[in-house]
Formats: sequence, structure tokens, C-alpha cells
Amino acid sequence: MGLKNLFDSFSQDLGIDLGTCNSLIYVRGKGIVLNEPSVVAVERGTNRLVAVGTEAKGMLSRTPRDIIAKRPLRDGVIADPDLTEKMIKYFIQKVVPKNWFLKPRIVIGVPSCITKVEENAVIDSAYKAGARSVKVIAESLAAAIGAGIPIVEPAGHMICDIGGGTTEISVISLKGMVVTRAIRVGGDEFDEAIMRHIKNVHNLIIGDQTAERLKIEIGNASPERTIEKVEIKGNDAITGLPRRFEVDSVEIREALMPSINLIVEEVKKTLSETPPELAADIVERGIVMSGGGALLKGLPKLIAKETGVPVILAEKPLECVAIGAGKYFETMKSREGADSVYESLNL
Ligand SMILES: Nc1ncnc2c1ncn2[C@@H]1O[C@H](COP(=O)(O)OP(=O)(O)OP(=O)(O)O)[C@@H](O)[C@H]1O
Ligand SMILES: [Mg+2]
Repeated sequence: MGLKNLFDSFSQDLGIDLGTCNSLIYVRGKGIVLNEPSVVAVERGTNRLVAVGTEAKGMLSRTPRDIIAKRPLRDGVIADPDLTEKMIKYFIQKVVPKNWFLKPRIVIGVPSCITKVEENAVIDSAYKAGARSVKVIAESLAAAIGAGIPIVEPAGHMICDIGGGTTEISVISLKGMVVTRAIRVGGDEFDEAIMRHIKNVHNLIIGDQTAERLKIEIGNASPERTIEKVEIKGNDAITGLPRRFEVDSVEIREALMPSINLIVEEVKKTLSETPPELAADIVERGIVMSGGGALLKGLPKLIAKETGVPVILAEKPLECVAIGAGKYFETMKSREGADSVYESLNL
């Protein structure tokens, strides 16, 4: 065994999901060791770090004047490279003990649409945080591995990852991505659609955290049997005064449908660009969905209805990318993969 292989077998592999909403770190043998919002709070002017992750999210839209809380990644791209670097370093250093003599190998799942410059910035930050080697992989490949798709097989598999900023749909066969499409529509866009609807129809201005709560509690992509209602608080768009209001699930679904339809169209386009043999495999095995957006009630059902292809929701949709990034090396080395995700279909 060469020195490099010896290092590889002893050192820890870290899989990181650098998401626009949430960042997760998976360690082989330990599981998910960090799961925090991708938010940073800094001091205005000096850019000194005040808080990162969960603590910083609590400060979003509620900060005193001298502190700014921001999401350094937006729409699946790096909006602020300096803050992204600070955030990655903070997260990695939080899980890697300082006195470690064996530095970790790090695999990071990033949106397929990031530029080479952004990718280099991510790699650089991970090295600065103490990585021994850094590899960046497409988030949908990581999601596929993490969802338990046997990507090493010479057969077509489709993964549809709906994150906060982007939706990525890929067809994977023999460890490679055959077709990939990505759009900048995801959970954030759903929240914005809800905020626009409440303002335009009810003259009420609500914050994005209220919109997200509405989406998770009563949001639905398929017509529901029972209509649910939730009371919200916001500011009247005309008087500016705080006011309470009751919102129901039917109007929330109507507000969400234009964004949802964009995702459905993208899935259809990906299927139509897939070579026939691989498409036949997908029809048989189904489309696997991951990412927090896939948890929107009724969305897997709607995609199945619109495409005529069965849809399976991954077991841990929010964790797939980090798990898959952490298992990347062992998966790429293996000849056969675990066939677990399709079991639920009983085909
Ligand atoms: N139960 C739920 N129902 C609907 N949406 C949900 C639910 N749980 C989480 N979400 C949404 O999922 C999104 C976050 O998903 P995820 O963590 O996969 O995104 P991300 O990986 O950070 O983003 P990206 O992949 O675009 O970089 C948020 O918009 C959140 O509101
Ligand atoms: Mg993601």
C-alpha cells in the first residue's frame, strides 16, 4: 500500500452539501454531524464575523443597524464569495478537531450551474479550512448516491433535486451524468410566490419566514381533500399597520402552481432529451426526488401524474447531497451499488 493509499484509509472523508438554504456535513461512520442554515451575520463596515448558521438565521431581518445577516449563496450561485469562504471555513472547523494530524478529504456538492471561478473559490476555502484534498461534484450526482440510487449500473436513473435556489434534474448511468437540466426555481421561489400573492390579493406584506411557514404547513401541489386554514400576521400594504389575516390552502396552491409548473416542464424536457434505452429504464424504475422542495405536499404525486412515470421520494430528502458527497469515493471505486431506493416501488 502506497503512502497516499495509507493516508486515504485512515483519514476521514467529509461530504459537504453547500446549499443556498442549508449546509450539511456528513462524516463516514458518523453520519450527519452538522446541519445549519447557510446564513452569516457580520459587522457592518468591518465585515467581522458575528454569527454563522442557526444563530445567524435568527438574526435575518431582525438585526440592529451595525450587524448584517445575509445568505451568501442565492439562487444556487455564490452571491458573496468572501462571506461564503468565511462560512465554509467556520463549518468545517466546527467539525474537524484542530489537533488532527490526518487532514480530511473533502467532497463538496455544488449546483451544476456554478462558474469555474466560483468553484475555485469554494475549493480554496475548503483548503484554507484544513482539507488535505478537495473535490467538487455536481449536487445531483451527490443526491443520487445519497438517495441510494445504484449509479454504477449501466442503466438509466433519474434524480430530481429541488433545493432552495435551484432544481436540478439529471439522468445518470454508469457513474456519469448523461443529461442534466437546472433551473433557478426552488423553495425560495415558492416563498416569494406566496409573498406576492398575499400582497397583491390581500394587501398584506409578510416576511419570508412567514411565507415559508405557510408553504410547509398548508402548501400543496395537488388539490387537497380538506381545506386547511392558518392565521398569519403582517403589515397592511396601505396603512403600514400590523394586521392578522386567515389564509387557506386553496389560495396557497394557486399561488404556487406557476412555479411548480416550471419544474414539471423541466422534468418533461429532461425525459424527452433522454436516449430511448435509458428513458425506458426510468419508466420502469421511476424518478427519485430529493431536496427540501420535494417535501412540498402532493408534489411527487403531481410529477408522477404529469409525466406518467412513477416517482419515489428519497428517504432523507434534505440529507441526500451531503450523504452522497461523503460516500463519493467509495461509490466510484465500487463495482456494484446498493439497490435500496427502488424497493418501495415493488416493481
Ligand atoms: N416540508 C417541507 N415542505 C415544503 N418545503 C420544504 C419543506 N421542508 C423544507 N422545505 C424547503 O426546502 C428548501 C431547502 O431545501 P434544501 O435544504 O434541499 O435546499 P439547499 O440545498 O440549501 O438549496 P440548493 O440545493 O438550491 O442550493 C427551502 O426552500 C425550504 O423551505
Ligand atoms: Mg441542495
